[in-house]
Amino acid sequence: MSEIDLRVSKIKDGTVIDHIRGGYALDVIKILGITGKEKRVMTITINVPSKRFKVKDIVKIEDRALNSQEVNRIALVAPHASINIIHNYKVEKKLEVVLPKVIEGIIKCVNPCCISNSGEPVISRFYVKNEEPLLLKCHYCSITLEQADVLHQL
Ligand code: CTP
Ligand code: ZN
Repeated sequence: MSEIDLRVSKIKDGTVIDHIRGGYALDVIKILGITGKEKRVMTITINVPSKRFKVKDIVKIEDRALNSQEVNRIALVAPHASINIIHNYKVEKKLEVVLPKVIEGIIKCVNPCCISNSGEPVISRFYVKNEEPLLLKCHYCSITLEQADVLHQL
């Protein structure tokens, strides 16, 4: 049993978001809309040693499976995360996060003059120009958003 396993116990049922880059776990839970007020057991582990990165974060959400839309949202802040669906203590399924080519409705354009910020019923729409570092181009005003712009609005 590794040092990490001793620190973070296994769960019976739920979702484990593993291999989150160290320091980004709170951004992951924010982008999932988790506030902590849910009546659910959740474990957030930050900056534990990892082989793949130097350090990593882990989020464990008990008794809840994520849908594919939620998995894809995670890609905006943790593109290398792996999602493990746990059933009866076993890893039932592993999902890789995939950043969609087009992001709609999740984030706002940073340009105050953009039509998507005008109060018109326009859903924000961005094209992924680069995954890492994240670069998004607004469909309406062509402005470029960086990862920091996304993190600021969570
Ligand atoms: N896990 C858990 N509860 C379980 C089973 C697994 O919390 N009942 C967690 C593990 O602690 C790990 C993740 O789910 O963080 C993936 O488990 P596993 O596939 O067993 O680990 P690894 O082989 O290290 O995964 P990978 O190949 O993705 O590195
Ligand atoms: Zn715009």
